[in-house]
Amino acid sequence: MSLAEAGDETALDEWRVAWLGRRGRLTAVLRGVRDLPAEERPRVGAGANRLKSALEDAVAAHRAQLHASAEHAKSIDVSLPGRTPPLGSLHPVTLTRRHLERTFRDMGFDVVEGPDVELEEYNFDRLRIPAGHPARDMWDTIWVADDAGDNGGPRQLLRTHTSPMQIRYLERRQPPIRVIVPGTCYRYEATDATHEWMLTQIEGLVIDENLSFAHLKGTLEAFVRRMFGADIETRFRCDYFPFVEPGAELGVRWQGDWLEVLGCGMVHPEIIEDAGLDPDRYTGFAFGMGVERVAMLRYGVRDIRHFYRNDVRFLRQFEGRR
Ligand code: DAH
Repeated sequence: MSLAEAGDETALDEWRVAWLGRRGRLTAVLRGVRDLPAEERPRVGAGANRLKSALEDAVAAHRAQLHASAEHAKSIDVSLPGRTPPLGSLHPVTLTRRHLERTFRDMGFDVVEGPDVELEEYNFDRLRIPAGHPARDMWDTIWVADDAGDNGGPRQLLRTHTSPMQIRYLERRQPPIRVIVPGTCYRYEATDATHEWMLTQIEGLVIDENLSFAHLKGTLEAFVRRMFGADIETRFRCDYFPFVEPGAELGVRWQGDWLEVLGCGMVHPEIIEDAGLDPDRYTGFAFGMGVERVAMLRYGVRDIRHFYRNDVRFLRQFEGRR
């Protein structure tokens, strides 16, 4: 057996005794020195002694190694639960968006998505916001620089709201329509605690025969109650958006203050007509809300800019939340 093969203290001692013990092999050599001719004794004696101390060092080192691995084995507690690798978690805006989508799905809405890069025509003109219309100032726009636009082709932009999907959806679908459109929107805007240049909206569109403002109110109040609780106070106030008539904003009373949750209104008859539908027969309503705003209410976030700063200390607070 070699020293390296000694797997425990007993084997190690056996090895040590075999070489260095009183009757060990090296001890025999050392004893034999005195029987050698006088001129050879110093050389053999010195060599054997060097070998002896080298072997003693090797035994000590091997013993230390055996001790270290025994300690190591003791430090492994096989009953400890495994370490969970960090999995990350859903972003608070994703959580809120999914919650909103679920709520509308439960109410019978379809969910569709549209393009982030949009044509000026859909984002503005066909929503009754032509170039030069003062209402364009409501949406500071990030334009997409491209040759097509500069050469007189259609101009493109990052959608400033999800409303263009009203037009796109009407192009492809016949009533009855009951759909929501979640999506990211972009605005050329300075940021502060309540404004971000990138935001998430949920657009809603409902078109059918004989729909009135009462349907709008009933639907949106039902939604708000599902979202914020049965005894939430709501209020509708007149507002102006070029693509609805009449237009309104819906506020909820939150910790004593009125907070605007969404814009809404009856789809403008010109938009219904442009879609090839008879506005005397088909009516409907639309609404649009900011998802970050709802997330701020749900989680008590006071500054909208936290959402896209990517600070893990902020994001980790939403681990395991719904
Ligand atoms: N698109 C509007 C905005 O970004 C929100 C909005 C208001 C959407 C009224 C609607 C609506 O569908 O009817 O400010």
